[in-house]
Amino acid sequence: MEPLELCPKLDTEDGFVQSSLFKDESKLSEKWMPDRLFHRDDTFRQLMRFFRVLLERPKTFSVKVMLTGGPGSGKTAVAMSFGSEMECIACDEFGLNLKFIHVNCIEGVNLSNILLQILQKIRPSSYYQLWSAKNLIREIQDILRKDDLQLIICLDDADSFFTKKSLILNRLMNSKESCLNTELRISFVLNVKSDDVRENVAEKITSIPIMEYVPNQLEDILEERVKISFQKGSVQRGTVRLIAGLCRFSGSAREALSILWGTAKFAEKKGASVVEPSHVRQYYESLKPITDYGKCVFLDQDQKVILFAILRLFEYDDQERIKKRDIWREYLDICMENAIVPKKVERILMEMWILEWITGFFITKESIKSDYTTEKVEEIALLISIEELHSIVEYQIKSEVGWNLIQFYFKKFH
Ligand SMILES: Nc1ncnc2c1ncn2[C@@H]1O[C@H](COP(=O)(O)OP(=O)(O)OP(=O)(O)O)[C@@H](O)[C@H]1O
Ligand SMILES: [Mg+2]
Repeated sequence: MEPLELCPKLDTEDGFVQSSLFKDESKLSEKWMPDRLFHRDDTFRQLMRFFRVLLERPKTFSVKVMLTGGPGSGKTAVAMSFGSEMECIACDEFGLNLKFIHVNCIEGVNLSNILLQILQKIRPSSYYQLWSAKNLIREIQDILRKDDLQLIICLDDADSFFTKKSLILNRLMNSKESCLNTELRISFVLNVKSDDVRENVAEKITSIPIMEYVPNQLEDILEERVKISFQKGSVQRGTVRLIAGLCRFSGSAREALSILWGTAKFAEKKGASVVEPSHVRQYYESLKPITDYGKCVFLDQDQKVILFAILRLFEYDDQERIKKRDIWREYLDICMENAIVPKKVERILMEMWILEWITGFFITKESIKSDYTTEKVEEIALLISIEELHSIVEYQIKSEVGWNLIQFYFKKFH
């Protein structure tokens, strides 16, 4: 574990000690757009390649690209960052008037709403509120012509919009008369969660799939956000690693950032000066209680001893990870103390995998042992709180006859 640098505590007027974990909490909000996007260089480059034609041969093509990826995979963030880069390059390197417009296509949005959102961004005025779609289209076309303007419109969260109202989409994207895009001044980035929506559009649209983040990538995103939103040293590295592990199935940066924020608020309420892995576990459990499930799992004898070994190690030293090798040693100690015949190491390692798979209480991670060797060490990260694990193991070993010493361990706590 890293050395901790404690953040200062401030005395408030009413005598309470106020935690100051955060430096700038707003940087964890969904609305804040990061300057730097991790692990999305490929997507960014692909977008640049497709849209470059707008710079080199303006008004000759309407580019239509679909960004497809699960929730929190960074579609909006990538599109926004790409848009502002395109605006800069168009102006600085090509002397062109190009604007990127982000349009929210939440459920229920209609053609007039979308046109209004576009118009408000190129010529803000309350004057258009009661205009018909036909007039709005005419006004936008006029402005584009007068200002010699090209647009890249990002239709964000467009899934529901596609399935139900593809006619509207055609009205926006087609280049026929009575459509918005008659002069090929408009190109589109369509953000959707599912690639299937493509079937509903007659237009040829290139799709760029965005993969969900893997834990290591989420760690990078979280680390960067920690640097800019928290006081130095107020979030342990183990905390970040644990959050990234918890989001391994969703692969969502949004989920990871929201757990980070929720955990920090939870720790702050407890008066902590450092956000630790134990805060993550407790906060996460308050969102998704698992007690009943843990007590329903049927475990065999070896698995119960392994789980008890894991509990003892974490209760001895509350850390983010423990080595599988140490679990094996602890397992042998427990067997010896309780006159249980131990199984071979291979068998126990296999049981650890099974336990991980059936309970979901922890995950295996690999880490490099030191700077001098490349030997990889297998460790496990606990995903539930130690209190929760304690109560589950206690429940599981209750019925084991002859495990007097193990049972005594739990009596100590009551
Ligand atoms: N590569 C990244 N680097 C830094 N922050 C990121 C990255 N990807 C996503 N984020 C952050 O994660 C959060 C969610 O990202 P975003 O809104 O772009 O996801 P999305 O794919 O649009 O999700 P949804 O489909 O639900 O709209 C945002 O706060 C965003 O700033
Ligand atoms: Mg989005």
